[in-house]
Amino acid sequence: MSVQGVRQVEFAVSGATGGVGGRVATRLADLGHGQRLIVRDTSRAPDLPGAEIVEASYDDPRAMRRALEGIRTFFMVSGGEAFDRVRQHIATVDAAVAAGVERIVYLSFLGAAPEATFTFARDHWWTEEHIRAAGIHATFLRDSLYLDMLPLIAGDDGVIRGPAGDGRVAAVARDNVADVAVAVLLGGEKHDGRAYDVTGPEEITLYQVAGELSRVTGRDIVYHAETLEAAYASRTSYGAPEWEVEGWITSYAAIAAGELDAVSDAVDDLAGHAPMTLAEFLRRYPESYRHLLPA
Ligand SMILES: NC(=O)c1ccc[n+]([C@@H]2O[C@H](COP(=O)([O-])OP(=O)(O)OC[C@H]3O[C@@H](n4cnc5c(N)ncnc54)[C@H](OP(=O)(O)O)[C@@H]3O)[C@@H](O)[C@H]2O)c1
Repeated sequence: MSVQGVRQVEFAVSGATGGVGGRVATRLADLGHGQRLIVRDTSRAPDLPGAEIVEASYDDPRAMRRALEGIRTFFMVSGGEAFDRVRQHIATVDAAVAAGVERIVYLSFLGAAPEATFTFARDHWWTEEHIRAAGIHATFLRDSLYLDMLPLIAGDDGVIRGPAGDGRVAAVARDNVADVAVAVLLGGEKHDGRAYDVTGPEEITLYQVAGELSRVTGRDIVYHAETLEAAYASRTSYGAPEWEVEGWITSYAAIAAGELDAVSDAVDDLAGHAPMTLAEFLRRYPESYRHLLPA
C-alpha cells in the first residue's frame, strides 16, 4: 500500500543482523508480518519472506529517517556501546518522529536510571527520557543481562573475574527477550506507556553460574570476586577506552549493588511461557560453552 508515494510497512526492526533483532525479525516473518529490516550492511541482513532491507545506521539520521518512512511501529534495538550512543539514539528517535512513525518499542535495560551503577544503563535512561519527551507512543523493554553472555564471562583459564560480590542477577535468554518483543509489537496500543522488566526466572550469583558451567563442561570453573580496584587494574592491559572499561566493570558492580536482582513475570505474562533457566539455556545451546570444554 502506498500513501503519497511512501510505501507503508507495519514494522521496522533495527539491529536485525544481531541476536535480539534477528530473532524478532525471524519470528515476525514466521507469523507472516511485513517488515523492514534496518541494517548497517545489507549483505549481512537475514533473508526473510516479506521483509524489505534498508541500510542505515544510528549515526546517520538522514539515512535513518529515509529508512523509517512509512513505518507504523519501530522496534529499536539499542546500538552497540559507544561514547556517543545517547546522541545516536536521540538522533534516531528524532528521525523516527520526523518520518511519521507512530510507535517505538525500545530495547532498554533493567534498572535504567540516570544514576544507575551500570554506566551503560544510564544511556538507556536518557534514551527513554528522549522518547518520553518526543510524545510518541512507546514501550520500553528493560531486559536483564543476557543468559547468552554468561558462558562468555569465564576466561580461558576457567575463572570468572568481576566485582559482583555475592550479588544476584536473573539473567534472561535473548530468545525470551525476542518472545516478549514480538508479543508487545503485535499487542499494539495496550502496551503504550508501559515499561516491562524482562528477566529470567531465577536470581543467581556468579558462584552459581560457575557451578553450572562446571557441571556442563566437566571442568572446574570458579568465580573470583574482585574488588573494584583489582577489576580496573586487571583490565588496564586491554587498551580499551575508559568509558568502555567502566561499562564492563560496572555491569558486575550493579550485580553487587543489588540493582539487577529483580525477577519479573514479563516472559510468562506477555509471551505465555516460562523463561529459560541457565541450565535450560546451556542444554539448548551447548555451543555457548564450547570454548570452555577441556581440550
Ligand atoms: N542485556 C545484555 O546483557 C546486553 C549485552 C550486550 C549488549 N546489549 C545491548 O542490547 C543490544 C541488542 O543485543 P544483541 O545481543 O542483539 O546485540 P548484537 O548481537 O551485538 O546486535 C546488535 C545489533 O545492533 C546493530 N547496531 C549496533 N550499533 C548500531 C548503530 N550504531 N546503528 C545501527 N545499528 C547498530 C548491530 O549491527 P551490526 O551487525 O552492523 O554490528 C546488530 O545488528 C545491543 O546492541 C546492546 O545495546 C545488552
